[in-house]
Order: sequence, then C-alpha cells, then structure tokens
Amino acid sequence: MAKIAVLGHGVVGSGVLEVINTHHDSIERRAKEEITVKRILDLREFPNLPYADIFTKDFSLIINDPEIAIVVEVMGGITPAYDYVKACLENGKSVVTSNKELVAAKGAELISLAQKNNLNFLFEASVGGGIPIIRPISQCLAANEVGEIAGILNGTTNFILTKMIRENMDFAVALKLAQDLGYAERNPAADVEGHDACRKICILASLAFGTHVYPDSVYTEGITKITLEDVQYAAAWGGVIKLIGSVKMQDDGKIGIMVAPRFISRESQLANVDDVFNGIMVRGDATGDVVFYGKGAGKLPTASAVVADVIDCVKHFKARKYLYWDDAKLDYVANIEEESFEYYVRIKALSTDLAEKLAYKYFGKIRELTRENQPEGEIAFVTNLTNEKVMNNSIEGLKNDGASVLGVIRLSDY
Ligand code: HSE
Repeated sequence: MAKIAVLGHGVVGSGVLEVINTHHDSIERRAKEEITVKRILDLREFPNLPYADIFTKDFSLIINDPEIAIVVEVMGGITPAYDYVKACLENGKSVVTSNKELVAAKGAELISLAQKNNLNFLFEASVGGGIPIIRPISQCLAANEVGEIAGILNGTTNFILTKMIRENMDFAVALKLAQDLGYAERNPAADVEGHDACRKICILASLAFGTHVYPDSVYTEGITKITLEDVQYAAAWGGVIKLIGSVKMQDDGKIGIMVAPRFISRESQLANVDDVFNGIMVRGDATGDVVFYGKGAGKLPTASAVVADVIDCVKHFKARKYLYWDDAKLDYVANIEEESFEYYVRIKALSTDLAEKLAYKYFGKIRELTRENQPEGEIAFVTNLTNEKVMNNSIEGLKNDGASVLGVIRLSDY
C-alpha cells in the first residue's frame, strides 16, 4: 500500500481527496498498489468531513513519518510550500505539486534535488489544469525539436474575455463568477495581470528548451485594459482577443517569450478556446502544430492531473522520471524591444480627419477598422510589421500630438 500526505485542503486539495476516494479501485488497478491518504496538512478545521481524523496542523508528523512516501503539495504560493517541498525531497519523499508559482520560481533547484536523491518531483497539474501537457512535451514529443509554444494558459481570464465578448458582461461581474467557480487565484491580480499565465509559459519554456526561465525576465501584460470597443474592433478585423503566453526559439539561440492580449484570427484553433478552457499549441519540426485543449482550471480537472502524477510516482518508486532542465543563463531571454509585431491601435483626436492624419504620420499605410456607433474623432487600425521600440516611440509621438491612445494590442499568426 502507498501512503501519501496532502499539503493543503483548498479547491485542489479537496479535489484530490474526492478523486482518490471516488476512483479508489481503478486507481489501485492502474498503480498496481492501493493508494491511501494518511495525513492532510491544513491550518483550518474540517470537523464535518468523514476523513476529519487525518487532518493535522503539524508538518513534522508528515516529514518524520517513514510510511509516507509521496507528498502532494497543493497549498499554492512560495511560502511555506517551498520549505515543505524541499524538506520532503531532502527526506526521501517524492513530491507531486500543482503549484505553478513554486515550479516557475524554484523548478530547476527542486528538480535537481529530486534527481540527486533519486526521487520524483512531478507537476503535470501546474500548467493547463486537467490537460496533459508536461508529459506530452517531455515524452511524446521528445523526438521533435520544439520551436514554438503558444497558448491560452489562464482559465479565469479566458472565462472573463468570453463573457465580455459573448454576453457583454462587465469585467468585475465576470471575475466574481470565476472566483465563485473556484477558477481564480487567491489574489485574482495574478490572473488578470497575466502573472499566472507567465508562470505557466515559463514552465513550458523551461521544459521545452531545457533552460529555466524566471517569470521576472518575461514581458507580461494582463487583460485589465481590454474594453468592449476593442472586442468590437477585433471582430471587425476577423478575430477575437485572447490572453496568450508564447515562447519561440530564435536563430540566435535566445528565446522570445511574452504574455499579452493578442488579436487571434477566427481561423485559428485558439480562437475557439472559450470559457475556462485552455488551448496550447506546440510547434514541432516533425509533427507540425499539435494543439492540446481542455479545462485549464477548477477542482476536479486539476485534481485529476495531480492524482495521475501520484499514480506515476507509485509506479516509479525505484526509477526517476524524465523531467529535467538546467538553471537560467544570462542573455537567454530576448529583449522585447528587439521584436516586431503588427499592432491594432485605437486612438481619439479632436476630429476623425486629424486622427487619420496622425495615424498616417506615424504608421504610413494602415488598415482602418470600423465599429457600430463609432464616435467622431475615434479611429482604429492595424499597422504593418513594426519594431516594438519604434512602436513605443510612435505612441509617445501620438500623445505629444494631442491624441489619446485608447488601445494597443499585438496581432498574432497562430
Ligand atoms: N487561476 C488559474 C486559472 C487556475 O484561472 O487558470 C489554474 O491554474
């Protein structure tokens, strides 16, 4: 029998208990061993749960218990999760986690520690919730050179954008709904400002290209500035706005990596990834584009990925799994100012005529977009391929010439 401990009994932790209890027999069949939860660590009391007697507030009861071979960390955050996970790996216990913040911040160190001690450190649930993506990149696509990954990696923001686009729902109302459904982070700024998606693209980049990428080296923009007007113009352009995490290996050996809202053409597979769903496109040299799709957040989808890792751990007690990457290196992440994009721009000036003249002054030939009830003085357009630094200077120029810049969103070719 394999005995495990679960650190945290929030949305995902309670889901792990539910999945293990509901699928007890089939899990045993697949793991070739019964899996039971011996301890749950949480500071709160849960007196009414049928398994109330296995709760503890004392981590030493877990770390010092030789019967517990696998620890599931689903607390989230860095403190105290990092200390606990490190202690487990230093004391002969394999770790399974859904904690993307931890993996993005400390992945290289913890993977290396696990390797040194011949243990497993698995984190399938840290990206894409219930979608298999870590294992496919590291195993199934291992014969490819992956050149690029782009995806909708945050369920909460995709849910909010879908509600805005389809139901004209107010941003705050949609966010509250996502929180009630258990999708959002404890601090939803992590979702709406793009940090959660950033952690996830860092994990995918680290895995695909073998070098750790820290979130603070990645240009990150959230969805808080997106308006219903931008959504209308995106429709006129022929697409939708999605928050995309992307990474691309460049010819010079650096990676171009960013998180930002993007115009996505209606033809793209990512355009139809709605609600809490995530979609991740992996571009391999042998496979071409492979797209993974499924529920990217929520109790049971995420718990399912966690428990699958536990089963994998039980089946590989004596063999280490495949996950590995080196620590970060200098000058590996390209400066975004060196990159070029086509942009959607929305500006307002005293008159439409003046707005068009200013657009011509800074961008030359543009493609104008229109929307219903477009007010006098407002224009929206799409630029040609423009370098990011030149774009920033043009925006400053527009402002200095008296125009209000109401929206700037990069186009994508996914
Ligand atoms: N807040 C995250 C999301 C949870 O909305 O995608 C899953 O990582």
